[in-house]
Amino acid sequence: MSAIRYEHIKTCKQSGARLGRVHTPHGTFETPMFMPVGTLATVKTMSPEDLERMDAQIILSNTYHLWLRPGHEIIREAGGLHKFMNWDRPILTDSGGFQVFSLSNLRKITEEGVEFRNHLNGAKLFLKPEGAMEIQNALGSDIMMAFDECPPFPAEHDYMKKSVERTSRWAERCLEAHTRPQDQGLFGIVQGGEYEDLRKQSAQDLVSLDFPGYAIGGLSVGEPKDVMNRALEFTTPLLPFDKPRYLMGVGSPDSLIDGAIRGIDMFDCVLPTRIARNGTCMTSNGRLVVRNAKYARDFGPLDENCDCHVCKNYSRAYIRHLIKCEETFGFRLTTYHNLHFLLNLMVDVRQAIMEDRLLDFKEEFFEQYGFNKA
Ligand code: GUN
Ligand code: ZN
Repeated sequence: MSAIRYEHIKTCKQSGARLGRVHTPHGTFETPMFMPVGTLATVKTMSPEDLERMDAQIILSNTYHLWLRPGHEIIREAGGLHKFMNWDRPILTDSGGFQVFSLSNLRKITEEGVEFRNHLNGAKLFLKPEGAMEIQNALGSDIMMAFDECPPFPAEHDYMKKSVERTSRWAERCLEAHTRPQDQGLFGIVQGGEYEDLRKQSAQDLVSLDFPGYAIGGLSVGEPKDVMNRALEFTTPLLPFDKPRYLMGVGSPDSLIDGAIRGIDMFDCVLPTRIARNGTCMTSNGRLVVRNAKYARDFGPLDENCDCHVCKNYSRAYIRHLIKCEETFGFRLTTYHNLHFLLNLMVDVRQAIMEDRLLDFKEEFFEQYGFNKA
C-alpha cells in the first residue's frame, strides 16, 4: 500500500484538465491545487490558523533550509515537521536539489552527489540522494521529492542528456534509501528541459521505477511561456493516468490555468508570498502595486471581487501606509490576500472542470486579468 493515492473524479470535456483528490497520511487535498511555500517551516508571516482559514490544503517546505537550520535531528526529536510547526494537514518537502543550484555558489556535481557552499556561512557541504532521503524521512513529510539536478535554461542537449541519466540513477538510489514508504510517498522528478526526446527518456526511466507520483521539474527557469507549455504537452501524456502530477515552481495565475489544461494536478511557487512582501497584490484585474502613491486615499479593498478576510476589513490606503512604514502587519495582509487569491483561483478552476468549461473560464479570466491586452 502506498502512502499516497490519486482519486480521479473527472476530466474536463472541453480542455482535458483533471479534477481529482490526493489522499495522504495527513488527509486529502483537492486537485488541481496550489501549495503555499513554507521554506523554513513557516509560510512567511502566516500562522497555521491563517492558512486553515483560507483553506490551504497542503503546504510545501524545504529539505535544504531545514537541514541547515534548525537541523533535521531537532525536527525528528520534535516528532516531525507537522508537530514542530503545528500544521496537521499534508506537507510536501522538496529534496534540496533545486535549492543547492539556486542558492549556493561553487557547486561541483559528481555521480555521488553535489558539493557546494552553504549560502549562510560559506562552509563546504555535500548533499546526495541518500542524504536528501534521510533528512526528509526525519521531517516526516507526506510527500517527499527525489534528489534531482535542475539544469539552467538554455542547456545543451549533450549536457541535458547526461544530466537526465544521472537524475534517473539518483532516483533509483532515493527509492533504495527511503525508509518510510508506508507513511511517506516519494515522487520522481522528470527533467529534460525543452527536449522532447529527453523528457521521454526521463519519464520512461522514472515510470519504470513506479513512484506514487511524478513531478515535472526544470521548467519556469527563464524559458518563454510557450516553451513551457509545449514541454508540458509532450510530457504529461507520458505519465501514468492514475498518479498525481506536480509542476514544480510555477505560480503565476496564467501558468496555473495553462498547466491545469495540460493535465497538471499540483503547483507551488514563492511568487504570491514574495511579491506580497514588497507590496504587490494579485487581483482579478491584474497586479496592483499597493505601495503606489495613487492609493494613498483609496479606502476601497485590494480587490473588489475578493471575499477574503483582508478585502472585507482593510483598505488599500491602510495597507499602503503599513507597507511604506515596513510594518509587519502590512506584509501579513498582502500575503494573506495573495494566497487567498490563488487558492480561490484553483477553486474556480476545479468548478470549471466540473462544468466542462475550463477553456471558457480561461478566456474570461485572462480578459479581466489583462493577459489578452497587447
Ligand atoms: N523547484 C522548481 N523546479 C524544480 C526542479 O526542477 N527540481 C526540484 N527538486 N525542485 C524544483
Ligand atoms: Zn482579498
